[in-house]
This record gives sequence, structure tokens and C-alpha cells, in this order.
Amino acid sequence: MSVAPDPAASIVPDWLSEPGDLNALCTKLWPANARRNSGGEIELGGLWASELASQFGTPLMVIDEDDARSRMRSTLEAFTAAFAEAGTSASIYYAGKAFLTGAVVQWVREEGLNLDVASLGELTLALRAGFPAERIGFHGNNKSVAELSCAIREGVGSIVLDSWYELERLTTLAREMGARPRVRIRVNSGVHASTHSYLATAHEDQKFGVTIADAERMAVQVAEENVLELLGFHSHIGSQIFETSGFLAAADRLLDLHDRTSKAIGRGLPELNLGGGFGIAYLEHETPLAPAHMATELARELAAQAAERGIPLPHVAFEPGRSLIGPAGVTFYEVGTIKAVHVGEGDAVRHYVSVDGGMSDNARPALYDADYTVRLASRASTADAMLVRVAGKHCESGDIVVHDDYLPSDLALGDLVAVPATGAYCHSLSSNYNYLTRPAIVAVRHGAAELMVRRETIEDLLMRDMTFSAAPTPHEQEPTA
Ligand SMILES: Cc1ncc(COP(=O)(O)O)c(C=O)c1O
Repeated sequence: MSVAPDPAASIVPDWLSEPGDLNALCTKLWPANARRNSGGEIELGGLWASELASQFGTPLMVIDEDDARSRMRSTLEAFTAAFAEAGTSASIYYAGKAFLTGAVVQWVREEGLNLDVASLGELTLALRAGFPAERIGFHGNNKSVAELSCAIREGVGSIVLDSWYELERLTTLAREMGARPRVRIRVNSGVHASTHSYLATAHEDQKFGVTIADAERMAVQVAEENVLELLGFHSHIGSQIFETSGFLAAADRLLDLHDRTSKAIGRGLPELNLGGGFGIAYLEHETPLAPAHMATELARELAAQAAERGIPLPHVAFEPGRSLIGPAGVTFYEVGTIKAVHVGEGDAVRHYVSVDGGMSDNARPALYDADYTVRLASRASTADAMLVRVAGKHCESGDIVVHDDYLPSDLALGDLVAVPATGAYCHSLSSNYNYLTRPAIVAVRHGAAELMVRRETIEDLLMRDMTFSAAPTPHEQEPTA
């Protein structure tokens, strides 16, 4: 018996299959408190999609606060417990670059995590939101004098040295300011990880950190000059990591360095920081490691690596961002147009569904070719599936929100659609391309919605353009905390 070829098959990626139930919400992609309610609508934290959209407008980013907090809490608990078992302590820095607002800073503080910032803007936001300076780590490959001075003045917990120039800059500032800032040295370990695999080379071709040999020389210089307080070494091997092998390869190199340096300077270094990069599921077939699994495996293997060298395992720190906030976020859009586009020579049809946002609120598909999924949010449907590409409203053909997924074929203008796993690196990479205003961000919890960041207005956008500014603003100064 011959089976008729599916006309759409040629344009459907291998990983995508038509869902048995187009209304189902795959639990690993959606926040813990997402469900489809009795009216068929997607509900988040007890609030219906249509209620949220009519109160706050679309596009709208919604964060399930309990889900975000519980990811933070469970990650910290898992790493603390696993490393206690391995005979040392651990801390978790939330990588603020993933998504930072005043409310998020407060959640991070209340859940007991530390915070990693990477600019004066992020640092200022964190301090204004009341985050204790001593729990902040300051990253960046080109920190300015203004940024370093602010970090010293505010008593930031650690500054991550990224180059010889920065060592000189910070040492000079510390002398001038009569302070003794604590530093970690960022090491370009030669290990690079991406989903499902890692690469270990002698040198990695990237801008961050210094080589292992330079890191050792730098550490000895810091110890001899005795102006800065050296905590230890740091590496960050990449993002969307689904296994522990890359971390362990980096740890192997960093523990050698740690051991040699401790002997060279005559004292044990207190810390080792292995960065962030824990992966999340954006698609149904992706399966990230649970924090507890990751923590247990890393603690056991790191303890073994330290034991092989006959050294105590120092305090170990990690700095995940995406895994703590990404799955807690959902973006709602309103459907504006639907076009059936015939693709290629055959009968394959792709439906372009254009929504009221796009690459200005989620740049990841355009930047990284990132894939997402989409579901009809304002109602359930029993219609057949149609292959869709969700596009934004920008003047750019690469302005795609979801490259490939299925939506019901009765999708209509005015319907709301929802894209899950948009909590990380969407707001933080957002722009005003085409003078679009950035969406509001709302936290939902137990049936209540709290506005975290209001929607941008066109007035906000025009404010800095001196053609429209009523009163000239003073010359822009570097902001101070
Ligand atoms: C130094 C550093 N730490 C932590 C992170 C957080 O990575 P992720 O959000 O993938 O966990 C990044 C991301 O780029 C980073 O550069």
C-alpha cells in the first residue's frame, strides 16, 4: 500500500511533529502555574490570557513569580546540599543579564542568591532595588573607570578581572581610594560548551578572560602587590548546556591552576567559580538536567578532582541566568494577519501569522536562529493543525518569533497566541527597532497581577530626541548609584 506524501513534510523540521492535541501545554516548556482553564483559555498564575491582555495590552510579557522563585530556591538548595556532602560550601549568583528588573532583584535577594552584574546600569539597578553590595559579582571585559570606581565605592563583593589593563586600572583606583576590593580572575579555559557537546582546545578564540598561563602570573602579581584581595579563578564556558562534562573539563584545568597558584603564593585560594550556562527546554524534545542532578554530579566529580590533587575543594560558585528565569516567562501577542504562502515547487504551504511584536521584544530567533513554540491562548480549538511561522511586524524578513510550529487552522485575527520560555534574554535584548514601544512586564501570582515594568510609550521614545524635547536636558553624565 502506498502512502500519499504529506505536502508540508518537506518544510517541516525533523524535530517537529504534529501535536496530538493542539491545546496541550507541555509541562517542561511552560511555567509551573500555567494551565488551560475550563473556558479553554491559557491561564497563568490564576489569570486568564484575555484578562491580562485587556488590562495590560499586547505584546505582554508575563512572569510566573512562584515559578521563578522556586527555580532560584531549588537551585540554591540543591547546590548547597550537594557541595556540603562533598565537604565544602556553594553559592549561586543569578546572572542579571538574563532578565533584570527591580522586582527580580528583590526575588533574588529574598531567595538567598547572590547577583552577577555586567555594567554600571545593572549595578545601579541592583543597588537601588536594595541588593546588598557584598553579594554582587561584577563582570565585563571592558569595565570603565566609572564602573570600577562605583564598584569599589559601593563595596561590591567581587570584581572579575578580565585583562591585564583592568588589573592595572583597578589597582590604581584601589590605591587612590584607599580600598581593598576582592577580585576573581576570569580564565579563558579553552573549554567551550554548547547544547549536547563541548569542545576543549588549548585556547578558545573569544574576547573574555586571560589564558591559564596569564591567569597564574596575574594571581602572583595580585598577591605580591597586596592591594587587591584575590578570591580565586572564574570560567564561563557557554550557554544552553545540557550535560556536566564541559563544566568538569573546565574545572579540571581550573583546579590545576588553583593548586599551582595556591602553592606559588603560599596560601589556599578560597573560591572557584565555574560560571553559568545551564540549559532549558525551548522545544518539546529538549531535556535539560534537573538542578539536583546537575548539583550532585558536579559536587561528586569536583570532590574527586580535588582529592586526586590532594587539595581541599574550595567554596564553589555558579552563575546561571536562563535556567532560573527563562521558563517562568510567557509572551502574549495578538494575531494581526494570516497569509498562506506556497513554499518551493510542491504543494507545501506555510501560514505566516503576523503578531503585534517581534524581534524588538524577542531578538533571539533573529540573532541566534533560536526556536520557540507557540499555542493559541485565548481559546481552545478542535480544528485541524496548520503549519505556521509566527512573524513580527518589523521591516525585516528575519523578524521571526517562532520559525516552525502548528496552530489550529481556525486561527483568526484578534486571537491571542502565547510563546513560552521567553523569560530570559528577551526583555534584556529588546530594542526599539522601527520605533516600536517595548511591552509591559507583569508578574502573576495566586490570581493577582503586579506590573513590574510599564509599557513604553511613544513619548518615552521621543524624549531623547532634541527636536521634540521641550526643555534641553543637562549634558548626559555617567549615572551614579
Ligand atoms: C560570565 C557569565 N556568567 C553567567 C552567564 C549566564 O549564562 P546563562 O544565562 O546561560 O546561565 C553568562 C551568559 O552569557 C556569562 O557570560
